[in-house]
Amino acid sequence: MISRFLRTGTALLLVLGWKALAVDKIPINEDESKVPPYTLPDPLVFTDGRPVKDAAAWQQRRAEILELYRTHVYGRTPKGLPRKKATVTSEDHNALGGLATRKLIHVPLLWNDKGPALDILLYLPNAAKQPVPAFVGYNFNGNHAVTTDPGVPLARSWIENRRENFITNNVANEQSRGCEASAWPIEHILARGYAVATIYYGDVEADFAEGWKQSLRGAAAKGGTNHVFAPDEWGAIGAWSWGLSRAMDYLETDSAVDGKRVAVIGHSRLGKTSLWAGAQDERFALVIANESGEGGAALARRWFGETVWRINASFPHWFCGRFKDYNENVPALPVDQHELIALMAPRPVYVASAEDDKWADPRGEFLGAKHAEPVYALFGKFGLGVADMPAVNTPVGGTIGYHIRTGKHALTAYDWDQYMSFADRHLTKAGQ
Ligand code: GCU
Repeated sequence: MISRFLRTGTALLLVLGWKALAVDKIPINEDESKVPPYTLPDPLVFTDGRPVKDAAAWQQRRAEILELYRTHVYGRTPKGLPRKKATVTSEDHNALGGLATRKLIHVPLLWNDKGPALDILLYLPNAAKQPVPAFVGYNFNGNHAVTTDPGVPLARSWIENRRENFITNNVANEQSRGCEASAWPIEHILARGYAVATIYYGDVEADFAEGWKQSLRGAAAKGGTNHVFAPDEWGAIGAWSWGLSRAMDYLETDSAVDGKRVAVIGHSRLGKTSLWAGAQDERFALVIANESGEGGAALARRWFGETVWRINASFPHWFCGRFKDYNENVPALPVDQHELIALMAPRPVYVASAEDDKWADPRGEFLGAKHAEPVYALFGKFGLGVADMPAVNTPVGGTIGYHIRTGKHALTAYDWDQYMSFADRHLTKAGQ
């Protein structure tokens, strides 16, 4: 008995020990000269080998790629989830010193109104004479973190402890108000004629391995918190993306917003999320992935920075179970991220990198965008328009935008300026 216990114990330790060791033993490369050659799947060839010759055939190939992403990468959204009515809980026409109208909108996500819900914070420019285009995206620390506006209620959902944001007990507090404001230059965005809608991503899922149990995925799962996810059931990125679509449902009904001109934006893990949201929901007229890296715009097959294996080890809840099958065999993955970007076609899409953000693989992000070009060409759309990576702080692009700016991993005012200029060009009103 004792020896059996010891044996099991040792085996367990070995397994646990191997796992713990594995995360930092997972081979990582950040040397360009060491990137091995790789072959990308061709977005313009069906799985059965037939070529995709025109835009009509692309629609079928698009459905095939989307399905591959559901099966192997992000997982599938459960069927039959409700679309609940949104309630505007507050409206102030004199927000931000009279520059904006601030609306707070509550959207229950499931059948039970007391279950998970989105709290959308929407600012509309008061200067607008007609419905405006809008940016919608998640924030990392709560709506109250994107501004010092005292009219924004503190987030109610679980928040990651970050000492620099004064969060120590996973609960929002007054001290953390405005801690993420540098990523959301709201006044500037409004002055350029856009509305801004943001939501705390933790409203949809608390971002830790077991966070689903207290969040949407747990509440929606048949087995509740005992649920065992099938290999192709949605992960957190799937749930977050679905939440963005529910925000879009609301924006379409707000007469101050032009629902045909809504851009979805996200940084980093939330950039992965905006890409997956834009792929599944074609109502997003423009998709922006800021430094989205592995599982976002960066090619998975390029061995540089974060890898499939590493991301699955560090964040096992982000992707579907089957994605783990590719940890040590990325070439077997039936898709690569240029195909995710291509799913936006013919809509405009913007990919951005930062020079010091090696972890996200800037060149891999650029190449993700570059290899989506043939799909845009099918629609007669001009893609990036450059053969190789542009110099830092030199934005390029036609229908696919790209820049690499100096500095580190962050969403900055510089990034927003490029996105707004891109949106000015592409989110023009029908017929303009
Ligand atoms: C980690 C993770 C990245 C992710 C980033 C973020 O660095 O490895 O994949 O993009 O967090 O979301 O900030």
